[in-house]
Amino acid sequence: MTTKLTPLSERSAWKALSAHHQKIGDTQLKQLFAEDPGRGERFTLEAAGIFLDYSKNRITDETLKLLLQLAEESGLRERIDAMFRGDKINITENRAVLHVALRAPQGEKIVVDGEDVVPGVHAVLDKMAAFADRVRSGAWKGHTGKRIKNVINIGIGGSDLGPVMAYEALKHYSQRDITFRFVSNVDGTDFVEAVQDLNADETLFLVASKTFTTLETMTNAHSARDWSLAGLGGDEKAVAKHFVAISTNAKEVAKFGIDTANMFEFWDWVGGRYSMDSAIGLSTMLAIGPDNFRAMLDGFHQMDEHFRTAPFASNLPVLLGLLTVWYTDFFDAQTVAVLPYEQYLKRFPAYLQQLTMESNGKHVTLDGERVATVTGPIYWGEPGTNGQHSFYQLIHQGTRLIPCDFIGFYKTLNPLGQHHDMLMANVFAQAEALAFGKTAEQVKAEGTPDWLVPHRVFEGNRPSNTILADQLTPEVLGKLIALYEHAVFTQGTIWSIDSFDQWGVELGKVLAQKIIGELESKTEPALSHDTSTTNLIRRYRKNK
Ligand code: F6P
Repeated sequence: MTTKLTPLSERSAWKALSAHHQKIGDTQLKQLFAEDPGRGERFTLEAAGIFLDYSKNRITDETLKLLLQLAEESGLRERIDAMFRGDKINITENRAVLHVALRAPQGEKIVVDGEDVVPGVHAVLDKMAAFADRVRSGAWKGHTGKRIKNVINIGIGGSDLGPVMAYEALKHYSQRDITFRFVSNVDGTDFVEAVQDLNADETLFLVASKTFTTLETMTNAHSARDWSLAGLGGDEKAVAKHFVAISTNAKEVAKFGIDTANMFEFWDWVGGRYSMDSAIGLSTMLAIGPDNFRAMLDGFHQMDEHFRTAPFASNLPVLLGLLTVWYTDFFDAQTVAVLPYEQYLKRFPAYLQQLTMESNGKHVTLDGERVATVTGPIYWGEPGTNGQHSFYQLIHQGTRLIPCDFIGFYKTLNPLGQHHDMLMANVFAQAEALAFGKTAEQVKAEGTPDWLVPHRVFEGNRPSNTILADQLTPEVLGKLIALYEHAVFTQGTIWSIDSFDQWGVELGKVLAQKIIGELESKTEPALSHDTSTTNLIRRYRKNK
């Protein structure tokens, strides 16, 4: 970093927000709506086909003004420009952060280390498309001449969560005569269950790993190789027909035995959790076809352009990011619930967990100082209406403040009687109930006995966003993901943290490597752990 940032708590907008929070922190949404009949229409924004109603947030015009001022004072404009320009804003890894280049249209120019990266992106997309067409049409044959009926993506973290989320989200558009499965966990059960009803001669493995060294993925890939060879008569040549790699690491791919001609490349300027629209999305392209995949990229790009160019006051990702900062830092909200009312988005919250928490779960600033405020909240959620019959009780009547993002669509992909209207009625009802609650007077007026009244009161004043779009298409999915990517970027910029490294996953990996040897040692190993870990290892060795 060239310029040293003013610590967050010393920025004038931050101080003003603290004072402002003292003043309006307890204001009721009911009151805000009563005072401003236009609020429900005014505090909305539509861009790139995504509509956001943020009126049910505990904010006033003054709050918004100060949050936007905070974005300015935190250098958000410069950071956005730096990211899109290809500056090495991931400072701890000295890398550019260019997932936006993955969806840049042909002809755009983005230069990293003196090289325009856009032609390379499109060359890989073309290679993926040619491969996908061959597999989908049956032209690509397995070792015994049979067509591929099963595709198994082996990867973890960003090399799994994006692909599995996108596959589920876009299943409606998928080629149904190919079975798609995703293996991620080093627990052998994941692999064994994924292949138990499949034939090796009809099964293609996509080994997806940016580094091609990740323990879980390489272990699963080796088991897949053994399983394939066992089912294909042990001929090593079979590997070329049943394994392709998606990686930045050609050397390790070759070492594994995959022909680098069957490798789909991406680059170190794509973070794992930002990679589902790179070659890591090969399973998505195989499922939905190249045209749909390109439509998804176009959706991403539309949101990128909106984020890059729209004034902050009318910028969807900026507003979403700032609202999260408001609740996290001023209301002590520890979590954000993401509640898609769309069954196809069932893995969206899990995907967002890595995107948000691996990005902003940081305790030091870009300057290496301990952060003075709370950073990344916990993201979680389940598709509606299932969550309503599970954890919504706590959101409505518990003691914690849980800001919610409701996501819904005007049109369903599966019209079935009244189902969709019922589903959407629940979105609107939940947000209304959370915001406005139900008073003791209302409960009493229904004839509720006095002793029961407190139990049936809803305090309300629980904030939520409602995000609406036309229909879950590949293009809309791209927009939604980019919306959250850039909201995360906005938050990270306010907190002055590096949202693009993930050192927090390293220590456990290193310790596990050491412990693997200790668990497998033929002779009793000398252990130098704390007494708890030593005891657990000894106990496991004795009982395994
Ligand atoms: O969990 C840590 C991490 O490095 C993630 O950031 C990444 O998405 C995942 O592991 C998988 O890494 P790779 O694609 O290199 O196998």
